[in-house]
Amino acid sequence: LCDGPLKGVKAVVTSGPTHEAIDPVRFIANRSSGKQGHAIAAALAALGAEVTLVSGPVTIPDPPGLRVIRVESALQMLGAVRGALPADVVVCAAAVADWSVANRATEKRKKKVGDPPPTIELTPNPDILMTVSKAEAPVRPRLVVGFAAETERLLEHAADKLARKGCDWIVANDVSEATGTFGGDSNTVHIIDGAGTESWPAMGKDEVARNLAERIAKALGKM
Ligand code: PMT
Repeated sequence: LCDGPLKGVKAVVTSGPTHEAIDPVRFIANRSSGKQGHAIAAALAALGAEVTLVSGPVTIPDPPGLRVIRVESALQMLGAVRGALPADVVVCAAAVADWSVANRATEKRKKKVGDPPPTIELTPNPDILMTVSKAEAPVRPRLVVGFAAETERLLEHAADKLARKGCDWIVANDVSEATGTFGGDSNTVHIIDGAGTESWPAMGKDEVARNLAERIAKALGKM
């Protein structure tokens, strides 16, 4: 742990995708690399926060100097986040699957000649961001930051998520294919909170993370 303005502050950050099993060898996933979430965890730690990073399956290395809990599914991610509370600040940057597979098979699904393709039935996953945001005091963190990954009507959908999920800030980013946000090294974000919308220019994910960590420190009265 390093000395810094966030010394003594506990932070939990979610990052990466979740994998929802179809059977023991197949899963549903998404294109999140974990770069943005991991950078935020590292930036908070660099300011002195005690950080728990809850990460879905990613191939990037763990940031040094913080506790990393690796999970696969949304349910496991929720369990790990709950276990890491209470915290002063929670940042949900993970791309959590909205659904898991209801008819998950315990053995590998076999392809039989002449059989129709199997049907995958989906069931809603718990919403981790909403669960944390709507927790009762003293479990409710002082600051809960969510992300909104959209491919159209970015600010409108993001504002809707801020209201519906009950977090304090939403970091909106466009993830349509042409932007390269998923998996890439840069991001263009808009921070929406009770006071309005702050649009940041395109910058590296590390820089987004450093600026966000500073904004968090200021909001907590630490800078
Ligand atoms: O990982 P990278 O390749 O660096 O890409 C970064 C990113 C695009 C994944 C990241 O910047 C980002 O936008 N993360 C949120 C992705 C997402 O799933 O957004 P959403 O709009 O579907 O969800 C809204 C919010 O609710 C998010 O904070 C999400 O973590 C949270 N959520 C969603 C569903 C669920 N079951 N539980 C949740 O907590």
